[in-house]
Amino acid sequence: MSRSYDVVVIGAGPAGYIAAIRAAQHGMTVACIDEWKNFDGKNAFGGTCLNAGCIPSKALLESSELYHRAQHEFKKHGITTGAVGIDVAAMQKRRASIVRQLTGGIAGLFKANKVDGLVGHGKLLAGGKVEFTPVDGEAEVIDAAHVILASGSAPIELPIAPFDGEHIVDSWSAIEFDAVPQRLGVIGAGVIGLEIGSVWSRLGAEVTIIEAMDDFLFMADRDVAAVAAKDFKKQGLDIKLGAKMTGAEVGKKGVTVAYEDKSGSHSLEVDKLIVAVGRRPFTDGLLAEDSGIALDERGFIIVDEECRTRVKGVYAVGDCVRGAMLAHKASEEGVMVADLIAGELAEVNYDVIPSVIYTAPEIAWVGKTEAEVKASGRPYKTGAFPFAANGRAKALEQVSGMVKIIAAADDDEILGVHIVGPMAGELISEAVLALEFSASTEDLQRTIHAHPSLAEAVHEAALAADKRALNYVNR
Ligand code: FAD
Ligand code: NAI
Repeated sequence: MSRSYDVVVIGAGPAGYIAAIRAAQHGMTVACIDEWKNFDGKNAFGGTCLNAGCIPSKALLESSELYHRAQHEFKKHGITTGAVGIDVAAMQKRRASIVRQLTGGIAGLFKANKVDGLVGHGKLLAGGKVEFTPVDGEAEVIDAAHVILASGSAPIELPIAPFDGEHIVDSWSAIEFDAVPQRLGVIGAGVIGLEIGSVWSRLGAEVTIIEAMDDFLFMADRDVAAVAAKDFKKQGLDIKLGAKMTGAEVGKKGVTVAYEDKSGSHSLEVDKLIVAVGRRPFTDGLLAEDSGIALDERGFIIVDEECRTRVKGVYAVGDCVRGAMLAHKASEEGVMVADLIAGELAEVNYDVIPSVIYTAPEIAWVGKTEAEVKASGRPYKTGAFPFAANGRAKALEQVSGMVKIIAAADDDEILGVHIVGPMAGELISEAVLALEFSASTEDLQRTIHAHPSLAEAVHEAALAADKRALNYVNR
């Protein structure tokens, strides 16, 4: 007789493992199938986020920032050191250890919540059945009352620059470099290009980023993008906008990249080339031909607002469906679906999803940009406050950037908050809560913020929206 579960989840990234745990917390029997294998040949739960994305990239980011600060800021604090060096092997060991602890933690959480974590391949069959093929065993068919597809995404590969794992690489390989490349090329000045490009730049690589769009960080507020562009330039990142790669040739000494921009054709020699031009939904081998699941023209699994596919009892969440490819969006969809299966009311507020780019300075926003509000026709006001006027930022020696708030002119509702500066990724949470509660700038103005703290810049930006900033001259 085949095994049966109330819920079978395929994929144990932040969408799938969270859905599995939440469903188990509702008292359902749950299995979560995952086939992720790391470069060391070991399987691990956690998907892209824990193994190859969010977590390892931030571990390296921290190392590179400490290295940078030791070289460039310690002296100002009156701290002297000997020559500051880097041991990339030790840095990577720390990164791998953090990843191992967290992915191992998921296995522990599965056990504690009575989720059966099944290592191997999952495939949705017709009629609420899932085929599970363990990494080293025979395929079996599992009965599932409900199935949650959470198969994630994969990097987009460009035919003119195919990945070879050595010279032309994706973001995962770029996180695992065992030495600092002297000359590093990056295709795409998106989130990955900027985060990983700036890590290796701080560690000493000469980084050139080729970006097809004319506008830098086109999805961000223009004021924030302008500050970031200036800072990245100062840090030595060479970002070529409006540039189109026309070829990439691997030779003995590295990669020769050909590209064109308004001024003509150019050639760039690099030791490594990272291609970071976006990610595609990953559904390879996931769906039997008669599973009944439909994909859209870009390969995303088609779902409604509640992540239901067109097959009864089958849901899909995370990077494999429409919307932002972000871990927190993926997890919230997982929670919503588990709650819906349990018969509860649940929803995801897709208008209030924070975005964070983990560079130095960090960039974070939630809600609408000023351009979007302007285009909507709703009368609005803005308030901004620079970190240069914030005591905590001064003490941290991180004064670049600002907080900008956009609010409705009629009822004062906060419509968007945009931050570039120290700990922007932490500061944005207050703004997310404000938008979730439809708060006004007056609500933020009357909220007491600890002193001295970076969060005071959020408070002052809210005051500035009514020309009441107290520690900055109102304009
Ligand atoms: P995934 O994490 O991709 O997990 C899917 C899992 O399903 C994988 O383990 C895969 O092996 C498994 N799977 C797929 N098909 C099958 C199958 N048929 N059978 C069994 N298993 C299967 N987002 C943020 O919010 N913050 C960040 O800081 C951030 N940093 C990132 C940095 C990088 C370099 C990258 C690449 C991404 C980053 N992201 C970040 C994005 C984030 O990683 C994704 O949005 C998130 O992982 C999506 O979660 P998911 O569960 O949908 O998919
Ligand atoms: P992206 O969509 O953020 O950026 C891709 C960039 O490449 C864009 O600016 C695009 O204009 C450019 N581009 C596309 N084709 C090009 C070409 N042929 N030549 C030159 N430029 C080209 O995608 P990215 O950086 O690959 O990241 C994928 C996703 O992973 C992100 O969209 C995000 O959802 C997620 N992510 C999130 C992070 C975070 O939350 N901090 C960190 C890293 C990734």
